Amino acid sequence: MLSALARPASAALRRSFSTSAQNNAKVAVLGASGGIGQPLSLLLKNSPLVSRLTLYDIAHTPGVAADLSHIETKAVVKGYLGPEQLPDCLKGCDVVVIPAGVPRKPGMTRDDLFNTNATIVATLAAACAQHCPEAMICIIANPVNSTIPIAAEVFKKHGVYNPSKIFGVTTLDIVRANTFVAELKGLDPARVNVPVIGGHAGKTIIPLISQCTPKVDFPQDHLGGKGYFLCLWFIEVLNIKQKAISISEDETSCSSFSLILSNFIKTSISAQNSSKVISLAK
Ligand SMILES: NC(=O)c1ccc[n+]([C@@H]2O[C@H](COP(=O)([O-])OP(=O)(O)OC[C@H]3O[C@@H](n4cnc5c(N)ncnc54)[C@H](O)[C@@H]3O)[C@@H](O)[C@H]2O)c1
Repeated sequence: MLSALARPASAALRRSFSTSAQNNAKVAVLGASGGIGQPLSLLLKNSPLVSRLTLYDIAHTPGVAADLSHIETKAVVKGYLGPEQLPDCLKGCDVVVIPAGVPRKPGMTRDDLFNTNATIVATLAAACAQHCPEAMICIIANPVNSTIPIAAEVFKKHGVYNPSKIFGVTTLDIVRANTFVAELKGLDPARVNVPVIGGHAGKTIIPLISQCTPKVDFPQDHLGGKGYFLCLWFIEVLNIKQKAISISEDETSCSSFSLILSNFIKTSISAQNSSKVISLAK
């Protein structure tokens, strides 16, 4: 899995993005009726950067779209239901977000989702490769460590693979790391920046505490193997937090993640618009 520390968009990267007026971004959400899809679509409908918002799911999208269309913002919202309507949902899109799939139940790991979600992501990625090959594809469906390579292979098969345009959105790990460190050290979370590298499952999530700004120290027994990351301890804290926020039977922290996700998408749109942006993706 490609793991990239964020850096300002390079000239080459900026050139690879469309130069069309991206304050008029056309965004599709695939899995728009779900726990993440609905609040995410609401936040995107509220963004001045989005001019067209197409919502796709196998259930409920006409109602979700009709509801959001009442909000007095410029994004025109339309719902698409079922595979035969997917091409129309995707045509002309600049950004496609994929939260479609099943979430974890208690006791499941992200890997347990593989069989179901791999097929869903592969099918949706194939439709994107056919109908909007130039779009940025932001993949949420877990296990992200596997769904990203699957999408990449599908794009390669269609001859339209561009590694600068397929993202696994794992910003949740960074936001959580910042918040936990801030809580433990009594700092303002908005001023804490913990880079997180690796993947998006268990031990592959590696917060680089030694690179944290401001500098923070932790007891030695909190530190991982070589003493420069807090990996195992971090996972333990994460599990405790996860249990605390599980309102339903399912895994997801929908509201907080939807906000993080919508910020990631807005940043991506700004990057397409050649703005200098710093963001993290894997
Ligand atoms: N990357 C992250 O940090 C992160 C964080 C939280 C959740 N997730 C993942 O996001 C995914 C969605 O979570 P959720 O809580 O929204 O789940 P959910 O069950 O509430 O919603 C999933 C939606 O996907 C739809 N769907 C299922 N199959 C589909 C298909 N073939 N085509 C289109 N839509 C389809 C469902 O109808 C449903 O509306 C899960 O895989 C979860 O693990 C990722």
